[in-house]
Amino acid sequence: MKLAIVTIDGPSGSGKSTISRKLAARLGFTYLDTGAMYRAVGLAAQRSGIGLGDNRAVAAVFDRFDLELLPGNGDSRVILNGEDISGHIRTAEMGLVASKVSALPLVRERLGQLQRNLGRRGRVVCEGRDMGTVVFPDAAHKFYLDATAEIRARRRTEQLREKGGKADYEIILAQIQKRDHDDSNRAIAPLKPADDACVIDSSALDIDEVVSLMMKTITAVNTSS
Ligand code: DC
Repeated sequence: MKLAIVTIDGPSGSGKSTISRKLAARLGFTYLDTGAMYRAVGLAAQRSGIGLGDNRAVAAVFDRFDLELLPGNGDSRVILNGEDISGHIRTAEMGLVASKVSALPLVRERLGQLQRNLGRRGRVVCEGRDMGTVVFPDAAHKFYLDATAEIRARRRTEQLREKGGKADYEIILAQIQKRDHDDSNRAIAPLKPADDACVIDSSALDIDEVVSLMMKTITAVNTSS
């Protein structure tokens, strides 16, 4: 019997977080933001001055690593060792830091264990890069959400400007392309669709259209099995 788990993998800026949250709400499932977990490790490593590519040194981060993910109004709230770090981890810079530490075998092993523990009772939508390929290969429903780098950069630029921030499209595009390259080319658990994933290109779809498409796919699979 397949686990009642929905996995949503895909590159940065593909709309995974918003879509995962909405889909989880529609299904009555909880939502697991695994990117936030890598960002938390990145922040802890950066604060302790550890080389971000040092697999041995990063072990010290896990000597004290009590991580809680709490539902928030938008993004989940992330509490590390009692401190609310939500405001520190959702920056483009921390995205790059997270991407760096996420290539370390020890980090993937430790976070993979935590994620399996959190997902073991099922009824969860898990968002990340390797949810369907590595962490939950037996998930009942797997999606891979994609969009061109240019469209993802345009969407992110607009989001930042709407929030009143300054945003340079060319810089954002370059950051997205770097993360795509690093996440897809690392040795362990690289970003790629699972063989049995439903691939959705959201370049020409809005958030609600993607969620509806996912709901239809899930319902069709549940009815036929
Ligand atoms: O989804 P995000 O942008 O918050 O993720 C930040 C980085 O963490 C991403 O560039 C790669 C890494 N990551 C990962 O390697 N595996 C996951 N399941 C989730 C994130």
